[in-house]
Amino acid sequence: MQELLKFAQELAREAGELIVNERATATLTRDYKGGKELVTQADLKADQLICTGIAAAYPEHVVLSEESSPEIREVWKLPQPVWIIDPIDGTVNYAHGHIQSAVSIAYCERGQIALGVVFNPFTDEMFHGIQGGGAYLNERPIQVATETELSRAIVATGFPYVKEGIEPMVERLGKVLTHCADIRRLGSAALDICWLAAGRLDAYYESLSLWDFAAARLIAKEAGAECGHFSEVPSGIDPQFHDTDILIANPSLYPQLRELLTY
Ligand code: IPD
Ligand code: CA
Ligand code: CA
Repeated sequence: MQELLKFAQELAREAGELIVNERATATLTRDYKGGKELVTQADLKADQLICTGIAAAYPEHVVLSEESSPEIREVWKLPQPVWIIDPIDGTVNYAHGHIQSAVSIAYCERGQIALGVVFNPFTDEMFHGIQGGGAYLNERPIQVATETELSRAIVATGFPYVKEGIEPMVERLGKVLTHCADIRRLGSAALDICWLAAGRLDAYYESLSLWDFAAARLIAKEAGAECGHFSEVPSGIDPQFHDTDILIANPSLYPQLRELLTY
């Protein structure tokens, strides 16, 4: 696993460098997937760099990437190892000159996320987690915060690009704002979850795609977070891969938030 970790961290750093340089030196081309979801040439170039790197080193492995192979489903059933990639998580931030964006790389083996790397090249923060081996920020162990009071909790969330069906989210937001200390919408789900792992946030909830959370969820779990959902996981789906109504928090806040968000 150490060899795979080194490989994933190097790839994330290379992709991070590309992303930073692309924004500093080139005019970002913008395209809108489905008319709403922003994608730049840096997303596509970083995707290509990562996918080429994996294909060269591990030609027999499968790659599920947001930009080039989003159609791959039920990765836990595949016999081969699977890499799950988000070349830039936080593209809207990236395209607007913000610094909350990251490269996310997860490695899945025998139906388990075994390794996760999330790298923010703008702050030079490398988060990683190994199944059963702990969570780290720049190689130092991290732990979730110990807050137990909902009324003191800072809760992060996010919203989809498509605004149809936003009403229940707005309702939940109202509940969280009423019962918790405050809300953050930082624009990168992978970093939200890693920040929770590092104790900078107390809880996180959102519906996502697997590439947004695969790496960060393992990092949070290894940092002591409880990772689950505030609605039922359909039978036949392994919960660690289920992307709807995700809830991550420390073990004290988790049941309180689950109750608040479920209705
Ligand atoms: C998005 C970010 C955002 C979340 C969205 C994601 P992208 O990913 O993680 O925080 O709210 O749901 O789609 O498009 O920047 O890779
Ligand atoms: Ca993403
Ligand atoms: Ca992305």
